[in-house]
Amino acid sequence: MSINQNINHINLDFQMPTIFRFGVGAFATLVNEIEALGVKKVAIVSDKGLEQVGVVQKVKNLIKPISVPTVTYTDIEGEPTFQLLEEAVQTLDVEKCDLIIGIGGGSALDVAKATAALCGKGDLTAYLSSEKMIESRTVKCILLPTTSGTGSEVTMNAIFGDEEQQVKRGLVSPAFLPDVAIIDPELTISCPPRVTAASGVDAFTHAIESYIAIKATPLTKIYSEKAMKLFTLNITRAVHNGNDLNARIGMSWLSSLAGVALANAGVGAVHALAYPLGGKFHIEHGVSNALLMPFVFEAIGKTCTEEMIDVAAFLKLGDFKSHPHEALNAVVDYLYQLLSDLDLPTSLSELGVDEESLPLLAEQAAKIDRLLSNTPYKLNEQKILEIYQSAFKGRVGK
Ligand SMILES: NC(=O)c1ccc[n+]([C@@H]2O[C@H](COP(=O)([O-])OP(=O)(O)OC[C@H]3O[C@@H](n4cnc5c(N)ncnc54)[C@H](O)[C@@H]3O)[C@@H](O)[C@H]2O)c1
Repeated sequence: MSINQNINHINLDFQMPTIFRFGVGAFATLVNEIEALGVKKVAIVSDKGLEQVGVVQKVKNLIKPISVPTVTYTDIEGEPTFQLLEEAVQTLDVEKCDLIIGIGGGSALDVAKATAALCGKGDLTAYLSSEKMIESRTVKCILLPTTSGTGSEVTMNAIFGDEEQQVKRGLVSPAFLPDVAIIDPELTISCPPRVTAASGVDAFTHAIESYIAIKATPLTKIYSEKAMKLFTLNITRAVHNGNDLNARIGMSWLSSLAGVALANAGVGAVHALAYPLGGKFHIEHGVSNALLMPFVFEAIGKTCTEEMIDVAAFLKLGDFKSHPHEALNAVVDYLYQLLSDLDLPTSLSELGVDEESLPLLAEQAAKIDRLLSNTPYKLNEQKILEIYQSAFKGRVGK
């Protein structure tokens, strides 16, 4: 379909944070934003790891001169659950803060923005089960990512583990978009290689999945395309030399661009299959996505040949216009190669997943219709099981 035809057939809504600020050193402008919002009490939400590397103290030092009362919430270890979110809301509701500053990777940012939106809402049950939409928020919110990344600072999603169901589930609300997103690549310099690799591939997953998504529009595709081009230029350098500021700048850009594409076009089957792995086996989200991506694309890529030709070109894998069916193979080979290039696991068995659990994982993934229905090839439970089985063994004979 030509781009003009495509534009004629869609109603195009596009959502972003109120202010999106990007730049090396932009972190320092946080203080101006706090003053501009005219708030009386601030909560800093982050995690234990970032407290240890001094990031939380850095925020406190920055805002000390304006003498605004501040509380800190850092009871986040690993990827957050709904129970943790409820605890955060209970704790911060009592504090009556009128601004929440979230600083961290996706885990801290998701808790920060969901807490800001849920403070003052009373009984949370219907909101946490997604029966009731969170329409608005009264607490202001500023988000600063320290990974590149989930793009959480620009999305309407927040992802939590459901311990009872042993799956991860997303809450979606426009109230999760912050008043201000400040993306300062310097904040990512201290990110260790494994987190850089896993969160970097997570961002790439947002880019490639949003590019082929049913809900993709010409506008979201611009963001997805640029994000994929930046990924291939920067990921290896950022993982193997974390002090390379230019690589970190490229990664921060792509993470936010891919986040905007995710927020407006959604993602698909790779995420649907990753969520049960996070819920039951607590595998980091980026690692699950990275590992599943080649196996999922091998299964679904034949239904989006044109997009695979585009993706191959964005990743500089070659021009496949005259032999379109080879584009998918080139993309899948690239996705497999990434795992070893970035020292990421290459099979589910390596991650401690047992083979007997695969049918249950497939049953859970098959229920995530929000994501599966946004994928051009509709996977059923049997096909999903086959993908898990292939990912369990890893790529054989290559
Ligand atoms: N809201 C969304 O749109 C969205 C999208 C994708 C993923 N997610 C969610 O985000 C979470 C994963 O986030 P993530 O991949 O950013 O990892 P993370 O937030 O879980 O952080 C991983 C580890 O890296 C550490 N870390 C982060 N930044 C650091 C830095 N600059 N220096 C040193 N250490 C640092 C953290 O302390 C933590 O120990 C998952 O729960 C996932 O489901 C949300």
